[in-house]
Amino acid sequence: MEPIYKGKHFITLEDWDKSEIDKLLDVSKTLKQKFLSNVETEYLKHKTAFLMFFEQSTRTRNSMESGLAQLGGHATFLDTSTMQISHGESAKDTAVILSSYGHGIAARNCFWGIGNRYLREMATYSTVPVMNLQCDLYHPMQGLADLMTIQEVKGETKNLKVSVIWAYAESHKKPISVPVTQVLLFPRYGIDVTLAYPKGYQLPDWVIEKARKNAAENGGSLTITHDIEIAFKDADIVIPKNWGSWVSNQSTDVIDDTLTANRGWKCTEKLMKLAKKDVKYMHALPADRENEVENSVIDGEHSIVYQEAENRLHTAKAVMAMTMGNK
Ligand code: CP
Repeated sequence: MEPIYKGKHFITLEDWDKSEIDKLLDVSKTLKQKFLSNVETEYLKHKTAFLMFFEQSTRTRNSMESGLAQLGGHATFLDTSTMQISHGESAKDTAVILSSYGHGIAARNCFWGIGNRYLREMATYSTVPVMNLQCDLYHPMQGLADLMTIQEVKGETKNLKVSVIWAYAESHKKPISVPVTQVLLFPRYGIDVTLAYPKGYQLPDWVIEKARKNAAENGGSLTITHDIEIAFKDADIVIPKNWGSWVSNQSTDVIDDTLTANRGWKCTEKLMKLAKKDVKYMHALPADRENEVENSVIDGEHSIVYQEAENRLHTAKAVMAMTMGNK
């Protein structure tokens, strides 16, 4: 398997054209089949990558670590609080040095106004691909796995109604990177996206403008509503998930009056009944159970959250296999 995008950074899917994303999805599907059939896939034998985490992770860390091992390579997990970054070492110095030691650098940095800039600065100086494991603006590994999962369960994506819906949660003030990635990516595949949120949880204007442009160019659409019932009505897929009010309020406080006023924004069985009979429930996870969603929905017949999480392994492997390689 040739790394045909060798050296290409994976910071946002907006930097990847559709034919490139299609190739990543094809490779993900092939790697999934091989994994399930116990076929060896040592396409990155002895290659190494550094995984820098400024925040916690279950799926992203483990899909990358086990994924690279399955490709014949080795991933080094780096808790950035134990690196010289915590004493102020620059993104440039970190990127130059780590890229001289291996074949890929991946990082999660979700700090508002900082994360994406940090990744872009590393990419400027790295001689190996820089992979975004989630920043303040984008979560491309998640977006790719979400699209793969939608294609698996629905086949053709054109004119599906996929609703990206804000939901109440108390666990932490989450980045906007998952909904931003979804509303930018899905319209490129002809999907009719409905974005629903209460006042105070808007996404940046440039995201909405770009999503509308992506929709116009690819036969999809973007509808914005503040009525949760409109989002569920006749939906093929619902993705109710919390995100923080970062655009209107940069405080890191988790619970405030804006949040508590919207406790009713929860995915319930009653709302699910408004959607199509074969509606699917998705969530990037971790879910704030009984706040974002009723257990009976996330554990119920419409939920495909475990398939979605499983696909993170295969999409992560595809990105690494296609971008890493001999220098
Ligand atoms: N969905 C996701 O990125 O999960 P983690 O935060 O566990 O990596």
